[in-house]
Amino acid sequence: MDSFNALAVVFILQVVALAFVYNTKHSSPYVRAYSIHDQPETLVFDDTQGLGREFEGIGAISGGGATSKLLVNYPEKQRNEILDYLFKPNFGASLQIFKVEIGGDMQSTDGTEASHMHNQWDENYSRGYEWWLLQEAKKRNPNIKLYCLPWGFPGWIGQGTTNPFVNPKQTADYVVRWISAAKTQYNLTMDFVGIWNERMYSIPYIKTLRKMLDDRGFHKTLIIAADKKWEIATDISKDEDLASAVHAIGCHYPGTYSSAPAKKTGKPLWASEDYSTFNNEVGGGCWARILNQNYVNGEMTSTISWNLIGSYYPQLPFFRDGLMTATQPWSGHYVVNTPIWMTAHTTQFVPIGWQYLAQGYGVGKLPKGGSYVSLSNPSFDQLTIVIETMTHNHSKCIRPNLPYYTVQPQTVKLKLQGSFIKIEKMNVWYSKLGLDGSTQQMFIKKQDLFFQNNEAELKLGLDEVITLTTVDSGRKGSHPDPPVAQPFPQVVADNFSGYVEHQEPNYLAPQIGSLEVQEINGERVARQTVLERPVYWCKAEKAEKTISIIGNHSWTDMNVSVSFSIPSVNGTTGVFVATRVDRGGCDSLHAKGIFFYVFPQDDQFIVSGDLARTHIMTKGKIRLESGKHTISLEVSEGKAVGQVDQTQLFSVAVAGSSTNGWGAIGTDTFGYADFDDFLFKGPQALKFRTLW
Ligand SMILES: *[C@@H]1O[C@H](CO)[C@@H](O)[C@H](O)[C@H]1NC(C)=O
Ligand SMILES: *[C@@H]1O[C@H](CO)[C@@H](O)[C@H](O)[C@H]1NC(C)=O
Ligand SMILES: *[C@@H]1O[C@H](CO)[C@@H](O)[C@H](O)[C@H]1NC(C)=O
Ligand SMILES: *[C@@H]1O[C@H](CO)[C@@H](O)[C@H](O)[C@H]1NC(C)=O
Ligand SMILES: *[C@@H]1O[C@H](CO)[C@@H](O)[C@H](O)[C@H]1NC(C)=O
Ligand SMILES: *[C@@H]1O[C@H](CO)[C@@H](O)[C@H](O)[C@H]1NC(C)=O
Ligand SMILES: *[C@@H]1O[C@H](CO)[C@@H](O)[C@H](O)[C@H]1NC(C)=O
Repeated sequence: MDSFNALAVVFILQVVALAFVYNTKHSSPYVRAYSIHDQPETLVFDDTQGLGREFEGIGAISGGGATSKLLVNYPEKQRNEILDYLFKPNFGASLQIFKVEIGGDMQSTDGTEASHMHNQWDENYSRGYEWWLLQEAKKRNPNIKLYCLPWGFPGWIGQGTTNPFVNPKQTADYVVRWISAAKTQYNLTMDFVGIWNERMYSIPYIKTLRKMLDDRGFHKTLIIAADKKWEIATDISKDEDLASAVHAIGCHYPGTYSSAPAKKTGKPLWASEDYSTFNNEVGGGCWARILNQNYVNGEMTSTISWNLIGSYYPQLPFFRDGLMTATQPWSGHYVVNTPIWMTAHTTQFVPIGWQYLAQGYGVGKLPKGGSYVSLSNPSFDQLTIVIETMTHNHSKCIRPNLPYYTVQPQTVKLKLQGSFIKIEKMNVWYSKLGLDGSTQQMFIKKQDLFFQNNEAELKLGLDEVITLTTVDSGRKGSHPDPPVAQPFPQVVADNFSGYVEHQEPNYLAPQIGSLEVQEINGERVARQTVLERPVYWCKAEKAEKTISIIGNHSWTDMNVSVSFSIPSVNGTTGVFVATRVDRGGCDSLHAKGIFFYVFPQDDQFIVSGDLARTHIMTKGKIRLESGKHTISLEVSEGKAVGQVDQTQLFSVAVAGSSTNGWGAIGTDTFGYADFDDFLFKGPQALKFRTLW
């Protein structure tokens, strides 16, 4: 070791000399560079001066809402590769916490996720894709912590109101049933549960939930409250029972600062949802900066990204606000974006349960801008230091506004004290975003950093992340390049016969209401299952219609065809097919497009330029026997043609509505409708009919 060390010192001195000769133009960040004018400031790393808080992990959210919708339809091979980048330890992001939405049948940003109890009398745990994702995460990392949170609730929870806590016992029962099924049906233990995403909380409900969890054997499932800002801190400080019910205060988009009352509670402080920024280099910069500074400025010990993966149609809100991107189940193409590697800089070298060092003794701001945090294991024989030098322009997050600051290139002297004086060298992992015209470098293992008399010097550039660590297990995992991107298929045909019951149809992305494959009279159909307006999270459900979208938003010409049957009990009043649907998400209620509605009970059809039917294009009479019928709408070369059971009902010019958008199917009201034999064709398929 000694001679190795000595050799290394000689080597470093040679490099320094060379660096002088060649004017340090290409020097790497960890090379010593002395300058009379630039006396490096010293950063001390010492565990004998008190300690900071305990690290509780970095995570990401699937849901809130439907953000993994397209991922589940990927080919098995690419799906597994993507899951490795996200969850596999010492591979990519190596996530430590996985947070999912407890589906509530309502729009929760980029779609709806199915509830395990659409109605009080129905219960099923085979719906949606979160169960599958939870298992995949746990399979890759048995130590990953699981966290669940409702964004909204099915209507019956509100008992005629929009308050989900009107009957605290009923709501707690609804949530604990989900947690209990996770255990009994999937052997998944929920480590954390939340209250109601970014909406009101109820103190009686939180206490009731705690009690019910304890009564049913889930005393280890801890409550994070309240997924808003820090307001619950004041309630916690006034109410001992509430304080003992809540494990940690979870704040959304804290902007790296927590409140004084929150710190005073002594509770762990979490950024229980953060990031939400377009995942280019700037998004990576945002994520790297907040992962450090949420602790440096706010003493937050856990930060969770919304979202896990951008796996929803690109024109839905907040596209690519995930750690990586996968929107092409038809091609298998995906992209590993910079936030994956920014995450790895911490997660691969700091397990949950390590301790931050004290402010000024391993944690703080760098002299010329940027920040650093240090963490150590319980026996203090391991040390990880994460340094970031993100510039203002290159690390803005979507929210909140980032006050201006400057960062300059700098050299710092690192001085190890206390338990760390034994450390002679550290592994160096390096990233640079490359926004100043330099080459982007992501999570590169560099030459070790050696300490002489417990000291080493480090040269820092701009927009860099450097991890110095005694942990040797870091690894930059990789899979072969994914298949190249391909256009959305020209034909999607689905009769739902190949599905496991309760699954959501592939590609069709519910924005209001919920589609679920069920066996009805011996046939698999896609049933719209939501019967009443949910306790909603955003305004989408004000439309009181349901809609599921599909396709390429750029398309102008397409044909949507589907058969439908409306059950006599709890059926909807009408169904539609639509083209050129211009928007989804919380704004779905204002969607424009061409909507062909059929109302069998009223013997009527209506063609409208919007979902809400405020711009009627044409309408007419139609006589339909009860039972199954086929409805189709084709928009091509400026004309919309509607047919029922192959009989043309109208042909109108399409001027005045949106010019392009998705295809869609949906219902006029909440209520059952059974869809089958779905057929969707794009512009090429219409142009070259004989070929398709
Ligand atoms: C849910 O659906 C699955 C698949 O059809 C079925 O096996 C299960 O018994 C149902 N009920 C519950 C409570 O999960
Ligand atoms: C359930 O999970 C635990 C740990 O997560 C594991 O030890 C156990 O073997 C699993 N049980 C079954 C039946 O798979
Ligand atoms: C930051 O970005 C703004 C707007 O893009 C630009 O005007 C400004 O010059 C940039 N500042 C720096 C320091 O790059
Ligand atoms: C969507 O359609 C546009 C216009 O035809 C095309 O340029 C684009 O590549 C398509 N994208 C996908 C993913 O299909
Ligand atoms: C559904 O489609 C598949 C594949 O096209 C076909 O093999 C099957 O016969 C169809 N089933 C029904 C019930 O139409
Ligand atoms: C749209 O497609 C359906 C299903 O293939 C077909 O029956 C219908 O005739 C098409 N519409 C037009 C106007 O060609
Ligand atoms: C129809 O809805 C009522 C309550 O609104 C419910 O009691 C009944 O079970 C439902 N029937 C079916 C077939 O879903």
